[in-house]
Amino acid sequence: MKPLVIAVDGPAGSGKSSVCRGTARTLGWRYLDTGAMYRAMTWAVLNAGIDPDDAAKVAEFCEVPAITSGVDPARSIIEVDGVDVSAAIREERVTSAVSAVSAVPKVRDLLVELQRTQAREALQLGTGIVVEGRDITTVVLPDAPVKIFLTARPEIRALRRAREDAGSADASSAEVNATQAALERRDHLDSTRAASPLKQTHEAYELDTSDLTLEEVIAEVISRAKAASE
Ligand code: DC
Repeated sequence: MKPLVIAVDGPAGSGKSSVCRGTARTLGWRYLDTGAMYRAMTWAVLNAGIDPDDAAKVAEFCEVPAITSGVDPARSIIEVDGVDVSAAIREERVTSAVSAVSAVPKVRDLLVELQRTQAREALQLGTGIVVEGRDITTVVLPDAPVKIFLTARPEIRALRRAREDAGSADASSAEVNATQAALERRDHLDSTRAASPLKQTHEAYELDTSDLTLEEVIAEVISRAKAASE
């Protein structure tokens, strides 16, 4: 198949990471998790002792850390100044601060530039790339030939995320409820912020993953990429 860019947006817990990583692995393409980049910036902000809600300080600081993201779907690596933070960025303190940091326009300008560079480099090297986030289809790569908006019913998203966090298939109903409340809070912040909010456009194909297996969703994404490459 002709190498191309697959841009995928969607709320937390819609299945983006598993779908995008799986699609890239199947096609032998690159995979870029832009959420991990915002998380890495948030980790750097917290590590520097800066209040993530102080937008002016975050804007002043954000050019300091060097954020490097791996693009191998089989190995998620994300570094801040050469330190691998791929585990640390999943900690609760990062998750609860990331919406504030990613709402700062200067943070977005910086990271969007890095994301576009990654997409350009992949195509120059003759490989495709699957890029996932919140504003990929609308702002970062609006010209991508395949644009997908993943959704899932709120209770399904909460159940998936709670199972992931519990590291097993049996998350308690209290855990699922707490996760649903946290996801709703983050969705609200991510879709109501002024800079590049999470937004569904008519140009992106909506794929509801609630009642599909991971394999079915990946197959659907790949069939759309095949159609676009003809
Ligand atoms: O996909 P994730 O949950 O790891 O993303 C973490 C946060 O990063 C999410 O709450 C919003 C922000 N984000 C963003 O603003 N723009 C993107 N392209 C990707 C993520």
